[in-house]
Amino acid sequence: MIRKAEFVISNSNPGNCPKPDRAEIAFIGRSNVGKSSLINMLTNKKGLAKTSQTPGKTQLINHFLINDQWYLVDLPGYGFAKVNVKVKEGWENMIKTYLTKRENLCGVFILIDSRLEPQKIDLEFLLWCGVNGVPAALIFTKADKLSKTKTEQNVRKFLKKTEEIFEEAPDYFVTSAENQMGKDEVNAFLEELVRE
Ligand code: GTP
Ligand code: MG
Repeated sequence: MIRKAEFVISNSNPGNCPKPDRAEIAFIGRSNVGKSSLINMLTNKKGLAKTSQTPGKTQLINHFLINDQWYLVDLPGYGFAKVNVKVKEGWENMIKTYLTKRENLCGVFILIDSRLEPQKIDLEFLLWCGVNGVPAALIFTKADKLSKTKTEQNVRKFLKKTEEIFEEAPDYFVTSAENQMGKDEVNAFLEELVRE
């Protein structure tokens, strides 16, 4: 259970992240998929991570200290078309440097919008994690938006696509920051990850 969550630091330079002396888990996914909202839901703290209806809200690597024990990290989204190419490349470099160099990183959650059919950019990012040895699990977000049947259909389609990439399907969770669906399951998984 997450009893305590506090903001530590924001960085544009992965080299300036806190000392890698404790377990760390990061949240990544397309801009606007709901990373910051999910973090607030998991930590029971509404304003902890900044959210917005406009994509591109989170632009830095944000560290939060959880239970005085481990770091949770909110990252900028990938694939946000509305910023110029230089800025976009800058974010992508920052994220990829962070993910490959961060020695205390135990895993990354890739967030997927459960309303959409499988998106190439998400599959490519998942593949990139596999190739670079970054352990990844999936979180399907905004499950309150569609019927259960339709959500399940999209989830199944995405998982089917991952079979073309991996022998073993990745761990996955279906969530809603709106109605707290999936909260206990994700928190239990987080606890296990940081304990290992
Ligand atoms: P960037 O930081 O811009 O990359 O976005 P993000 O992935 O952090 O998304 P954020 O949490 O800021 O949420 C984006 C929008 O989606 C906001 O308007 C949220 O209120 C909305 N949203 C996020 N999660 C959910 C959810 O589970 N259900 C619903 N209905 N809306 C959600
Ligand atoms: Mg955000």
